[in-house]
Amino acid sequence: MNNQLSVTAITIQRLVLLALTLLLAFSFSSVAADWVRGADPYVKNVLSTTGDPMQGHAIFQMNCAGCHGWKGEGKVGPSLCSVSKRKSRIRLIEQVISGKTPPMPQFKPSPQEMADLLSYLEGL
Ligand code: HEC
Repeated sequence: MNNQLSVTAITIQRLVLLALTLLLAFSFSSVAADWVRGADPYVKNVLSTTGDPMQGHAIFQMNCAGCHGWKGEGKVGPSLCSVSKRKSRIRLIEQVISGKTPPMPQFKPSPQEMADLLSYLEGL
């Protein structure tokens, strides 16, 4: 009885340890992924450009509002309200240029346009 209990305890301990290790590995890999993307010349260029939110708003209405709503409130695509609190700038850029989450298409904005979009998204 006692023995069985301690076996269970050890199993639980191992599972907790495994979960913690996976969590750590996962958070490191996302930090590493951001680090690698941050070294990309396009991303670097966007991040060092000052965006104009008014321009960004215009670009948004032409390209994004059909899915994300006129003010980013969400339609076919999710609401982008305070999206910059959930996603880093690098991830926001990745979301727009990667085309990895269909039906959202892949966009190819110039670094200036991307910086404008970013400054608009950060105000949502
Ligand atoms: C054809 C519809 C469509 C268009 C056009 C579109 N999106 Fe999206 N977008 C989506 C969908 C659907 C998702 C959810 C993708 C997923 O995570 O699976 C999404 C997700 C996002 C996200 C991540 C939201 C979050 O909560 O993590 C951002 C940021 C975003 N879109 C920005 C943009 C911007 C900026 C544009 C214009 C340049 C744009 N989208 C154009 C459909 C669209």
